[in-house]
Formats: sequence, C-alpha cells, structure tokens
Amino acid sequence: MSRPDLPGHVAIVLDGNGRWAEKRRLSRTLGHQAGLRALRRTAEHGARLGIRTLTVFAFSSENWNRPAREVTRLMELFMSALDKEVKGMHEHGVRVRFIGDPAAFQPELQERMRAAEQLTAGNDRTQLNVAANYGGRWDILQAARQLAGQAQRGELDPADLDEAMFSRHLALGDTPDPDLFIRTGGEQRISNFLLWQSAYTEFYFSPLLWPDFNAAELDRAIASYGQRERRFGLTGAQARDRARA
Ligand code: IPE
Ligand code: MG
Repeated sequence: MSRPDLPGHVAIVLDGNGRWAEKRRLSRTLGHQAGLRALRRTAEHGARLGIRTLTVFAFSSENWNRPAREVTRLMELFMSALDKEVKGMHEHGVRVRFIGDPAAFQPELQERMRAAEQLTAGNDRTQLNVAANYGGRWDILQAARQLAGQAQRGELDPADLDEAMFSRHLALGDTPDPDLFIRTGGEQRISNFLLWQSAYTEFYFSPLLWPDFNAAELDRAIASYGQRERRFGLTGAQARDRARA
C-alpha cells in the first residue's frame, strides 16, 4: 500500500563528512568511512519504513577537483564498499544502481559497479541509486544528446518531444521523481543533483553532518514531509480534491 505521508522516493545529498572528521581531528578519509556507516544505517531504516527508492549523491562530477589524495582515498573506499556491502544488500533484497558517467572511473571500479548492478538486478524490495560522477546538468545534456541523435537519424520528430519522453532519457528515466530531497550538513542548496527530477520535490535541510545522520532524523524528515501540502502548481482546494480522488 502506498501511503501519501510516506515518500516513495527519497533523494539525499550526503554532506558533512569532512567537517565531521575535522571536528574530531581525524582525517577526512575517516569522515567518509563514517559516512558509509551512516548510509548503511539510513538505507536499512528506509527499507524498514517501506521507502521504495533511495537515491544518494555519493560523488559529484565536481568532486574530482578535490585534492588528489582525498579523491584517491574516496575511490579506494568505493572499491572496498563495493566488495563488502553489496552481498549484504543483495541478501536484503536491495537493487543497486549507479547513475552518472562511469567512464572516468578506473576499469576495476567500473567492473565492480556493473557486477553489483547485475547481481542485484532482480531484487525489488528497495532500490538504492548511487550517484557517482553525476551532475544534474550532465544528465540533462546526455538526454538531449541521445534525443538529438534520434532526430538526426530521422527516428524522432522534434515536434513530438515532450516532458515525459525527455524524462525517460534521464538517468532515472524509469523511476518516479523524488518526493523528498534531504540535504545534510547545514547547507541549503541543490549542488547540481537531480535538477530536472526535483521540479516538484519537497526539500528538507538537516543541520546534522552526514556521519551523524540517523533513524530519528530520517523520521523527522519524513514527518516534515507528511505535513506538506503538495500542490504541483494547483490551488490548495484542487490539490486536496486530487489527493482524495
Ligand atoms: C560529503 O562530505 C561526501 C562527499 C562529497 C564525497 P564532504 O566531504 O563534502 O564534507 P564537508 O562538506 O567537507 O564537511
Ligand atoms: Mg561538502
């Protein structure tokens, strides 16, 4: 049963790993490791609540510009996370997918990402989308490029292109748009995450640094979501009629 007060799709910008570590005089790498633990907890709690889809921003196309050492450590962490976490996720019925441009990752990492997707492809309890080398503008551009190619080959009349068709060419083309967008770490911005897909998404900004994020804070975000009236451009009365229908 879908409950209107439970978001079916939650997107999260995991922010604050570095500050969490620096506050403790630890290396930023230890902050990212703590962030991975927070992701595991959050995914488990979300699945327990019945959230169908969780999409997390793990590594943006802009994160490559961080100091080389931090990027290297992050890649090592992805690699070991793929080795250690995927089996457990598979056992819990999680379908793992990566969104973003994989080409920039080392071949071994790309191979493990593909293997994780293949292993878990048949699972349908919850879906975990990991945005890696992802950017919202990149996503819109790659969709535009695919569609322009179709038009050039005579397979598509540009006049027939509509929002639904465009959406299907985006990275999450087969997934409903996020209902709830959470950003931790106190910053209130979208940072080039799911730009097109967040047109009517409800936002929740958490002051907690990502490694401190927990079940109680996810519950608070969901409770806040439950208080919102989603109008999709309609009047309040129209939206309430539609929700009852
Ligand atoms: C988010 O934490 C994780 C990644 C971008 C990989 P940050 O590393 O951005 O942490 P802060 O913002 O510096 O605290
Ligand atoms: Mg940050």
